[in-house]
Amino acid sequence: MTADELRSKYIEFFISKGHERIQGKSLIPDNDPTVLFTTAGMHPLVPYLLGETHPAGTRLTNYQKCIRTGDIDAVGDPSHLTFFEMLGNWSLGDYFKEGAIEMSYEFLTSPKWLGIPVERLGVTVFEGEGAIPRDDESAAVWRRLGIPEERISYRPREDNWWGPAGNTGPCGPDSEMFIDMGREPCGPDCAPGCSCGKWLEIWNDVFMQYNKNAEGEYLSLARKCVDTGMGIERTVTILNGQKSVYDTEIFRPVIAVIEQGGAYQYGSDPEKDRSVRIIADHVRSSTFILGDHKGVSPSNVGAGYVLRRLIRRAVRHGRKLGLGGDGILMLSPIAKAVVEKFKGAYPELEENHSRITEELDGEEKKFLETLQKGEHEFEKILPNLLKDPKKIMSGRLAFKLYDTYGFPIELTEELAAENGMKVRREEFDEAFKKHQELSRSQGGQVFKGGLGDQGEMAVKYHTATHLLHKALRMVLGDHVAQKGSNITAERMRFDFSHPAPLSPGEIQKVEELVNKAIEQDLPVTMTVMSLDDAKSSGAIALFGEKYENQVKVYTVGKSPSDFFSKEVCGGPHVEHTGVMGKFKIQKEQSSSAGVRRIRAVLE
Ligand code: ALA
Repeated sequence: MTADELRSKYIEFFISKGHERIQGKSLIPDNDPTVLFTTAGMHPLVPYLLGETHPAGTRLTNYQKCIRTGDIDAVGDPSHLTFFEMLGNWSLGDYFKEGAIEMSYEFLTSPKWLGIPVERLGVTVFEGEGAIPRDDESAAVWRRLGIPEERISYRPREDNWWGPAGNTGPCGPDSEMFIDMGREPCGPDCAPGCSCGKWLEIWNDVFMQYNKNAEGEYLSLARKCVDTGMGIERTVTILNGQKSVYDTEIFRPVIAVIEQGGAYQYGSDPEKDRSVRIIADHVRSSTFILGDHKGVSPSNVGAGYVLRRLIRRAVRHGRKLGLGGDGILMLSPIAKAVVEKFKGAYPELEENHSRITEELDGEEKKFLETLQKGEHEFEKILPNLLKDPKKIMSGRLAFKLYDTYGFPIELTEELAAENGMKVRREEFDEAFKKHQELSRSQGGQVFKGGLGDQGEMAVKYHTATHLLHKALRMVLGDHVAQKGSNITAERMRFDFSHPAPLSPGEIQKVEELVNKAIEQDLPVTMTVMSLDDAKSSGAIALFGEKYENQVKVYTVGKSPSDFFSKEVCGGPHVEHTGVMGKFKIQKEQSSSAGVRRIRAVLE
């Protein structure tokens, strides 16, 4: 089974069960400051899981591009990935445990769908904790469907509880499905969920019952929901009886380009294979980040920093394989294979192909210059180093080369060795670890709060983004398009396309327009309509965003014809602008080429 086939089958199955297919969203989340990337299929659906109505109904299905960078240093082994695709089906107050499990079971085992023999299926359910009881309800459904007791495993919170990466928002117990890979059990306790390699997870049904707020409290959801996630790469690997995601057809054409460039056959040398996997994964992730309409570029902060790390690590491993060099760039030909492979499911990759190529080429050149500088710097300090009779280079110095010039430790060690010297590696590792902790906090979750808690202030700021968006278009022109937004309970950030800094006069005008809309205490209303009707009625839709046929339109104004702002949006929003307070722009600055960033508060 190929990834394309699995995607189609999954969507077709859930459509046959009354689900509406919805579009996957951007890799860069909007309005959620808790994460840099979309980390699961449920991420763009958080407002709906917390109670907003969805224009497509109460049963939804889709596939979603995701990035998780928590394990970035583990990439290189046969299983880890930074980018993956997730298939999902959602119930928004519709079916719950029984319905979800029955459908999962049918899709997995029916010969019409995946046809996995029931004997190979095992499951886990939540064992309970404190006031939350053991999930006997899910276990009973699995038993009734034919899963024997010994293949139902009760597991603690670490294994069978799910909430989004930002650690706030909708969450609840889950039930995971595993395939028996046919190995001998590792011991008497070996059961589904065991990590010895006998049981591989293929799907997760999450029963969303709570909203964890920024204070860490679990509030019961008025409307219980289901969120499920099936990782495409992993499932294709298991269904084809392969050992590694990198052996599947998903990676074949990408690895073929790497093999060709490095005149190396994947599978002949473990150390080189590791480099091939790192390059394949990192270039795939970078291609998807650059191919996203949100337009992230390599930089030293946030998502741009993660992108830079991915690109540079790929180049470094490319050099190990002898890829590129002598004026030849290695990344963009690999990215081309990624675009070709995935453009059917993700047309944005082809649309943004020239941007992907330009950014990759630019960053690769920059990094090669960095490496050159580092080599030069090393030569400068070499005479001094050679004076040391023990021929030891301090780890601190090696770290300085890394930190200041981005010069990788492996290259420092290599150059040192060529001159008969050794680097004190433990000292470097220690400094590096400290640095990593810092960058992890940059690359991971940055703020508390966000849409997860949907606090009063976050909702006010959300409405403020609509007013600001409209005011900017009135003052600067219709070329202004929202590029991103980021909200906490304390402030908002809004990125938009515009070629030049705003003048003080323009900033003042924008503030005045927003504050006037607030002072008039305009009602905020929501209507569901077709995307075409929304656009022809004057609603702004986000540039490049994929929408369903039916969308929600939020209008700020007295009537459908006499309004201040109208925007396609999932919500939530305030009911009347009068509650928002006074809007103040604190800062206006450049965000990236052609994109400005405004930071504002409601006082
Ligand atoms: N949101 C759940 C997961 O990512 C389904 O595993």
